[in-house]
Amino acid sequence: MAECLVLPMMRNQTMKSWRSAEQWLLGSMVLALVAAACIWLVFGPAPTAPGDLLAIVLLVALLLVSMIMMRMVGSTRRQMEAALQGRARAEQRATEALRGSEAQWKEVFEHNPVMYFMVDATGTVLSVNSFGAAQLGYSVSELLGQSVLQVFFEEDRDLVRQSVSVCLENIGQTHSWEIRKIRKDGSALWVRENAKSVRRLDKQLIVLIACEDITERKEAENALRQSETYLAEAQRLSHTGSFGWRVVSGEIIWSEETFRIFGYDKAPSVTLDMVFQRIHPDDRARAKQTIDRASSDGKDFDHGYRLLMPDGSVKHVHATAHAATDASGGIEFVGAVTDVTARKRAEEELHEAQAGLAHVTRVTALGELAASIAHEVNQPLAAVVTNAAACLRWLDRETPNLDEARGTVRSIIKDGSRAGEVIQRVRGLVNKTAGQKAPLHLNEVVDEVITLVQHELFSHRVLLRLELAPALPLVLADRIQLQQVILNLVVNGIEAMQAVTDRPRELVIQTHQDETHQILLTVKDCGIGIAADNADRLFDAFFTTKSSGMGIGLSICRSIVDAHGGRLSASGNVGPGTTFQFTLPLHQEDNTR
Ligand SMILES: Nc1ncnc2c1ncn2[C@@H]1O[C@H](COP(=O)(O)OP(=O)(O)OP(=O)(O)O)[C@@H](O)[C@H]1O
Ligand SMILES: [Mg+2]
Repeated sequence: MAECLVLPMMRNQTMKSWRSAEQWLLGSMVLALVAAACIWLVFGPAPTAPGDLLAIVLLVALLLVSMIMMRMVGSTRRQMEAALQGRARAEQRATEALRGSEAQWKEVFEHNPVMYFMVDATGTVLSVNSFGAAQLGYSVSELLGQSVLQVFFEEDRDLVRQSVSVCLENIGQTHSWEIRKIRKDGSALWVRENAKSVRRLDKQLIVLIACEDITERKEAENALRQSETYLAEAQRLSHTGSFGWRVVSGEIIWSEETFRIFGYDKAPSVTLDMVFQRIHPDDRARAKQTIDRASSDGKDFDHGYRLLMPDGSVKHVHATAHAATDASGGIEFVGAVTDVTARKRAEEELHEAQAGLAHVTRVTALGELAASIAHEVNQPLAAVVTNAAACLRWLDRETPNLDEARGTVRSIIKDGSRAGEVIQRVRGLVNKTAGQKAPLHLNEVVDEVITLVQHELFSHRVLLRLELAPALPLVLADRIQLQQVILNLVVNGIEAMQAVTDRPRELVIQTHQDETHQILLTVKDCGIGIAADNADRLFDAFFTTKSSGMGIGLSICRSIVDAHGGRLSASGNVGPGTTFQFTLPLHQEDNTR
């Protein structure tokens, strides 16, 4: 700004100087002419004009010359005075402008929300702005002349010394670092320091440092780092890793836990090949199908598979992913993969324990049905004996009646087979066979159970009504386990009707297919019913209202039905008694997996 004022002024003065130079030139020429005229009059040929005239002319000329000279001297003096005044004014204005600018910069320096320090080569504070001093809780005077190290933590001081000496070794180059500073009250703040050394006019090296407060950013970074640590810890504890997958670019991101689950070292990039390489060969095709379908449909997916690790061990994992759209409109999945090996093992162990318990209860139930079973076996055996005697009689005749004898032998074979079948079923129930699901007809299983409880029904004067839907689709189930469920429900029904004397004791077994295409079996009795208080506890293990009951029949039934993907429930009848029913899913190709 000062420059703007000074320049036009100087231009004016230059113009004036030119004008006075012209006047000087003109004056000098007139003087030279007068001098030439005097010389010519003195030394030239004698003038023709009289001497007085010449003297008058010379006098006038001298007068004129002296007047011109006086004017010229006067005007030059005035011009010089004006020039000097103008220059003084310009200098004053420039000084004022400089002062204003300095004040402005000082203002900026003092109140700029940046801490400024100027330290010498030994780290002594030469200057600090009041904002900076205030931010550290000091006054400017408290810091001046002190070592700059006092505003740093003891453990960070070596870093400060090193950083300052790097600046001193590289004059004019800017260096930056992040460090904590300590306030007078002992609290800390994080700063980013930009520093460079410069040489002053007196040749002294100084370091200029500008510090920006980055406490908030550092705290946010620390909070983020901490939450990442917590997340990683939570993932490690829950054996759940996370992943992201951008389908178009094929970019896959894994968390640390996901790398651990898949048994890979942490790497910057992950490929689908790496995933498939680990999936158990028997599960690979199915997993690929799920992933291919999800990537083309862009829908959430959820699947379980096994991993075959390099050491030959097998892991069970469960992955679930949510589909989203990324910024460029492509499909992106964000998901979690959980190592469920331990859970699977626990489930298997539980399953084994349940199977053992189920076996024990089956055997116990058979013990209770011993009389009934004995009767079932006894009946055909008695018939065998009777038929054998009849056969003998037909043969002992004078003319043996071979046709009749054949007929009785056929009956013997039929009864023998019937007794054999009963024994077979009892053996099946007693045997500790591992559960094996196969497609089967539910109605057949009902028939098999009925054979074993015929006598029980008869001795308790229970009327059995079978309402079995013809041509039911197959169900996928374990025959022995299903027999156990039906047997339990039938025995419970018989026991519930033991106290009934005022009405016929009727037990209805019904099978049909419901509107959701599930197969349904109901066992309906007209017994004592279930007290409202007990309704919630029926399926709890060891809940019984019977003096000789163990209370595990229904809990085993429920776990068996659950394992078949069905549901077992109980409800009170409109009239007296209770209805138990269970559903089973249809046997379909998909269910075989
Ligand atoms: N059809 C039914 N009607 C009324 N109550 C029933 C019926 N079936 C079961 N309950 C009630 O549910 C209880 C539990 O039945 P659950 O079959 O689990 O055990 P339990 O029959 O008592 O003994 P067990 O373990 O020998 O079978 C029974 O004690 C009984 O109170
Ligand atoms: Mg029972």
